Amino acid sequence: MRRLIPDLSETTVGQQLDSYRPWECAHEDRPYLAMNFVATVDGRATIGGVSGPIGSDADTAMLVGLRTRFDAVMIGAGTMRAERYGRPVADQAVRESRERSGLPPDPLMVIVSGRLDLPWDAPLFTEGAGQVLVFTASEVEPPDTATSLRVVHHEDDVDLIAALRHLRHEHGVRAVLCEGGPHLFAELQGLGLVDELFLTTAPKLAGGGAPRILEGELPAAGELELAWLLEQDGELFARYRRP
Ligand SMILES: NC(=O)c1ccc[n+]([C@@H]2O[C@H](COP(=O)([O-])OP(=O)(O)OC[C@H]3O[C@@H](n4cnc5c(N)ncnc54)[C@H](OP(=O)(O)O)[C@@H]3O)[C@@H](O)[C@H]2O)c1
Repeated sequence: MRRLIPDLSETTVGQQLDSYRPWECAHEDRPYLAMNFVATVDGRATIGGVSGPIGSDADTAMLVGLRTRFDAVMIGAGTMRAERYGRPVADQAVRESRERSGLPPDPLMVIVSGRLDLPWDAPLFTEGAGQVLVFTASEVEPPDTATSLRVVHHEDDVDLIAALRHLRHEHGVRAVLCEGGPHLFAELQGLGLVDELFLTTAPKLAGGGAPRILEGELPAAGELELAWLLEQDGELFARYRRP
């Protein structure tokens, strides 16, 4: 892998992320929040309804690497339904490396859901490892799950500002990696809650009606500053932050 920006050199995902310590950037009232997406060159977030076919093994390494650097991983219900998550850090050695950095072995898995229509048979709920916290606007009670599950009810819609405040103050979450999807990204961006965006652009075109990485209205164009740009086999790994 080559680093193109801010300087030219050989690098690896591990080297790039070794000194990345987002938990040191926590806001007083909410965690530091980074988004992570993979997209095609035409900006599409899915091929065949899921994100897996877009990126390479290097993108998977970046995703896994990023998950070693955050207290919590957050997704919207649409992403959970499409991607059917399992334990976010499956590898014992990676969990141990998290602990060496002073992080809990498993990131807290956070799901934002309006209707609580979640795939309860997905490994995340059935494996019995780690912890899941669901913010929902539904009054429906969830089924029993093998994995420890807590549900926080909000009225009407999930108030994302209050949800992030809850994560910061009730769970000590200092940094959240939000892995989408496009509607949750639009909401968080619109509320000014996104600090960084990791975006992999794979050398592929998807076309069709696949969603883009951000789907929804924004109150104003979001300005981004490029913090780094990496390249491997034509795939670009950008890290943007709010100027
Ligand atoms: N390329 C990538 O990196 C990437 C990343 C993530 C996802 N994806 C793809 O994106 C697609 C899913 O897109 P999406 O936009 O539907 O996913 P999403 O943003 O994960 O989920 C949207 C859902 O989240 C819930 N939600 C979001 N904000 C809420 C709020 N304030 N209050 C209550 N509920 C809220 C709602 O759930 P309810 O439906 O329960 O009401 C809403 O329907 C999938 O195909 C997935 O594969 C791609």
